[in-house]
Amino acid sequence: MRGTPGPFVPGQLTRERSVKVFLTGASGVMGRSSIEALHQAGHDVVGLVRTEEHAAMVAATGAQPWKGDLYDRQTLAAGMAGCDAVANLATKVPVGAAALRPGSLKAIDRIRLNGSRVVADAATRAGVGRLVQQSLSFIYADQADEWIDEHSPVDVTRATEPVVVAEDNVRAFGDRGGVAVSLRFGLITGDDANTAWLFRRAAAGRSIGLGREDTWMHVVHPDDVGTAVVHALCAPGGYYNVGSEPVQRRDYVDTIAQAAGRTGGHFLPPWILRLGGEKLEILTRSQRVSSHLFSERTGWHPRHPQLTSAWFDELVEA
Ligand SMILES: NC(=O)c1ccc[n+]([C@@H]2O[C@H](COP(=O)([O-])OP(=O)(O)OC[C@H]3O[C@@H](n4cnc5c(N)ncnc54)[C@H](OP(=O)(O)O)[C@@H]3O)[C@@H](O)[C@H]2O)c1
Repeated sequence: MRGTPGPFVPGQLTRERSVKVFLTGASGVMGRSSIEALHQAGHDVVGLVRTEEHAAMVAATGAQPWKGDLYDRQTLAAGMAGCDAVANLATKVPVGAAALRPGSLKAIDRIRLNGSRVVADAATRAGVGRLVQQSLSFIYADQADEWIDEHSPVDVTRATEPVVVAEDNVRAFGDRGGVAVSLRFGLITGDDANTAWLFRRAAAGRSIGLGREDTWMHVVHPDDVGTAVVHALCAPGGYYNVGSEPVQRRDYVDTIAQAAGRTGGHFLPPWILRLGGEKLEILTRSQRVSSHLFSERTGWHPRHPQLTSAWFDELVEA
């Protein structure tokens, strides 16, 4: 623990001060990356887990596991006691073809609509000064080739509404006197379960592209999720886009396919989009998203500023 003298104002954290952060989703892709980055920055971590297996995994990193469920306000508040910040990184994103099944968004919608509120309430009850909520840049409206910043319009559909509600629940924490930060991440792309599914399909010569080839995607390397959570500890309250340089869908698909040993990737036929309705529509929006504001306000810069085949090295080795 890096101790620094000086007055401490709850919620107003500085980069020099070592703090204690309570993480939900500690065993997930965002949680693992955040634990590593927070430890590297000299912070202490308490990680919410539901199983003994994940408790052991979190303990092995040097973080303190805290057993409980996202919907158990009392257990959460007890775990958050004495923490300076909470980062709500719990999700239940359906991977691959499972996303198309009826009811596939039920768990993740509940986490966004109710879980985010329970976490925010527990943080207030525990007297935590700062709440960081993972959010998504998918919520922005399609803006073709125009750049998207935090003032750009949001397109609320049945698929994106729970994300917007989660941001509102976090804003309510801010209204109660805390500092509320929502990080609108791009599509996590690296050694995570969803990319691994796309990688296996591409290696087999199957289609992985959705939507128009010349449209823009906002992506983020898993490592940069963790460093963004660290920088969010000293960000002014608000919403921030977090990702690397936007990439055109044709380049995204080809980069994955080439890393998987193919000469190029293929796009799915447009009728699949009609089958997937609003669930797939969000994956086709043209989103040329800028993360400039977050960099300017916090000094964060992605370690992986541009999508390259190196992002898939761990999948190639596996
Ligand atoms: N921005 C993005 O693109 C984005 C964002 C999020 C996820 N994803 C993708 O979704 C895929 C799956 O993500 P993942 O591997 O991190 O796993 P996941 O299954 O989505 O789980 C994420 C974390 O949330 C926790 N969690 C879920 N429900 C909970 C509850 N009721 N109480 C307490 N904790 C709860 C999980 O704990 P348990 O292990 O106990 O279930 C886990 O630690 C990955 O491919 C990832 O990249 C993408």
